[in-house]
Amino acid sequence: MILVVNSGGRDAVADWQAQFAKVAPNLEVRWLEDEASRPDAVHYAFVWNPGPGRLAAMSNLRLILSSGAGVDHITKDPTWPRHVGIVRMGGEETVQRMGEYACLGALALLRGLPRIIEGQRLRKWDSFDSPRTAPETRVGVMGLGNLGAPAAQMLRGLGFQVAGWSRSPKSLHGVEHFAGEVQRDRFLARTDILVCLLPDTPETRGAIRAETIAKLPRGAGVVNAGRGGHVVLSDVIAALDSGQLGGAVLDVFEPEPLPPDHPAWSHPGIIVTPHLASLASRPARAQYVADAIAAFERGETPPNLYDPARGY
Ligand code: NDP
Ligand code: OXD
Repeated sequence: MILVVNSGGRDAVADWQAQFAKVAPNLEVRWLEDEASRPDAVHYAFVWNPGPGRLAAMSNLRLILSSGAGVDHITKDPTWPRHVGIVRMGGEETVQRMGEYACLGALALLRGLPRIIEGQRLRKWDSFDSPRTAPETRVGVMGLGNLGAPAAQMLRGLGFQVAGWSRSPKSLHGVEHFAGEVQRDRFLARTDILVCLLPDTPETRGAIRAETIAKLPRGAGVVNAGRGGHVVLSDVIAALDSGQLGGAVLDVFEPEPLPPDHPAWSHPGIIVTPHLASLASRPARAQYVADAIAAFERGETPPNLYDPARGY
């Protein structure tokens, strides 16, 4: 069985071959672009941003394995083969790393890390107290899925008062819950630090824009590790400049890489991280993909399947 990969580029292929040899020796791992001349030989595709038409040409493709939890890098190609399932990346390490990033972002904003970094840049001894502790701070997680729900629990573990917002109602121990558009504004009004872990859908684009930022308490912070399209960056910068926002930790942008002359790079209220919130190690991702393919081969439903009707 042939699995094509492109995650990490051509230089990563030898490592992927070594990783899959340990966990799925029945898979022959090849570089995606080497298979361009005989796409009908491919059974499985483990990809990030495969490029227009590439998957559609694979007439014997059985399953697409997304190298990311988000699948927008695949579905943005209008020709992607809709009769083939897409397994979204998940697993313990992906979950753990995203939880760590959410905690990093929330603690950075709680303790004024943008101001500390600016002080260091200016060689200025700017010692100050944080106005609150974690138990006095309300974090709100937008998106309580595979990554958002565990991140909410990790934030709770740090002592934050945590609430979550999702499309459908749910019950998470110790986490106040808000569902749907009707409860969105109440969720925003009780949120000092907003953490976005939404998927990229037409409904979620622009979730953090002037109108929603205005509903947060004055001086609130924003952490975005979902997708760049969730944030209207010019609105975030305007809100930082007016004091409506106190700081932002941003991992994802549109476009990526963030252009070198973009004002977000040098804004004293923003910490930019280059889309690194959660990428599991190659051994962990190889194991996850091998398990998903094995489940599929047994006739079971693989985990974390993308649902085209929901858009995530
Ligand atoms: P899931 O699909 O498991 O969870 C998505 C959550 O968002 C669900 O709780 C869902 O609600 C909620 N949601 C979806 N649409 C809406 C809406 N219109 N209004 C309110 N809530 C909504 O996704 P994951 O947790 O696996 O991943 C989330 C995203 O994180 C990915 O799509 C990706 O964009 C991003 N990501 C970023 C990474 C990085 O390194 N920066 C790494 C990994 C992921 P419900 O539960 O009701 O369905
Ligand atoms: C993902 C990502 O979706 O890395 O997993 O952005």
